[in-house]
Amino acid sequence: MNGPIPWRLKCVECDTLYRGHEIRYRCDCSGTLDVITTLAAATSGPLLETFDARRSSFIPADVSGVWRFRELVLPLPPDEVVTKGEGNTALYDASPLEDFTGVADLRLKHEGENPTGSFKDRGMTVGVSVAKSLGCERVACASTGNTSASMAAYAAQAGMRAFVFIPEGKIAFGKLSQALAYGARTIQIPGDFDDAMKLVERVCVDEGIYLLNSVNPFRIEGQKAIGLELMQDLRWRAPDWIVLPGGNLGNNTAIAKGLLELRDLGLIDRLPRMAVIQAEGANPLYTAWRDGTDVQPLTAETLATAIRIGSPVSWRKSLRGIRALNGVVEQVSDQEILEAKARVDAAGIGAEPASCATVAGVRKLCHAGVIRPDDQVCGVLTGHLLKDPDTVVRFHRGQLEGIDSGVAANPPVTSDGTLEDVRRLLQ
Ligand code: F0G
Repeated sequence: MNGPIPWRLKCVECDTLYRGHEIRYRCDCSGTLDVITTLAAATSGPLLETFDARRSSFIPADVSGVWRFRELVLPLPPDEVVTKGEGNTALYDASPLEDFTGVADLRLKHEGENPTGSFKDRGMTVGVSVAKSLGCERVACASTGNTSASMAAYAAQAGMRAFVFIPEGKIAFGKLSQALAYGARTIQIPGDFDDAMKLVERVCVDEGIYLLNSVNPFRIEGQKAIGLELMQDLRWRAPDWIVLPGGNLGNNTAIAKGLLELRDLGLIDRLPRMAVIQAEGANPLYTAWRDGTDVQPLTAETLATAIRIGSPVSWRKSLRGIRALNGVVEQVSDQEILEAKARVDAAGIGAEPASCATVAGVRKLCHAGVIRPDDQVCGVLTGHLLKDPDTVVRFHRGQLEGIDSGVAANPPVTSDGTLEDVRRLLQ
């Protein structure tokens, strides 16, 4: 990119400002950073009409459901971004699940329909584009699987070397196979995601490798586009609620930031409320929210391996956004997550376990009277059904320890191959 870099980084704790080309992920006080640009405010002309018009463009940056909103994301030259046409995900009508959730107008934004099968692609197109503009040749992340799959794919497209740090034996097979297939150096470490995260932050600083976890503030700028595209889907009218799962807490931080910016620019006239749903065994934000304390790291355990995180990096930023959106934090058990997943899957929508914490959370909050049955609710499904086929098959075979598959179980049946026997099975 030619000329001065048109953004700066600001500490969320102490407001210290850093120049845009400085490679850093934290303030000297160790606080995380926000990207500050003034482009959108300075842009003349009707932004919403511009965003809508780009939906019928053939230019790659306009086709992307991230770069289409570039005035609100990051002012990189459109022909220099690394894009796979991410975003443009379906907003499903999930009203057939009303008997389960209690909500009549539930819609599900399926971020598993992104190029590598998860919402991470929205942040990654921005992270990798910034890495390219800064001249970085090596990128790294720690991951519960989806970030690594996404980073591996975008880094390969940009011709960069990718290093992923994953907790050995604790990520779903679909995700591990993506990292390997896209050619990332895949380093399995003992311990959990939180251990991998600590390690990769050190390695990146020591070795000068560009870090692409969501502690990288540019990832957050890209992930804002989930909320922007959702508002566009809804013709720029906010729903009553946005509900999503919380792990490392980058996604809810990003969506809240994007919505607040839309409101501050006068592009939407009201804000939705936000509900962040955690797995019971990986619930540091929920506990902190309930008790009014700081987040206390814990050792996480849940079948929803994507959100098996006990020490979330972005918790302070995250709480700021939840409060600004008059939000709530809820927790759901693995049994509740898998029951919700069985319903989402059987409705023909399908998503990975962590995503279905969203629907389990809608149900719980509706039963508790927090979400009203006639509220308009938009849930985010974060990852594709095929990310974790092992959990699906074991659920339907009744082989998941501690989980009752109940009437939802749909195990495969075996035939001897004769017409007679097949007829029997058709009954
Ligand atoms: N859902 C899925 C499918 C995820 O992969 C993640 C996070 C989340 C929800 C939670 O999002 O961290 O922004 O609160 N996955 C990360 C990874 C940690 O490494 O792929 P968050």
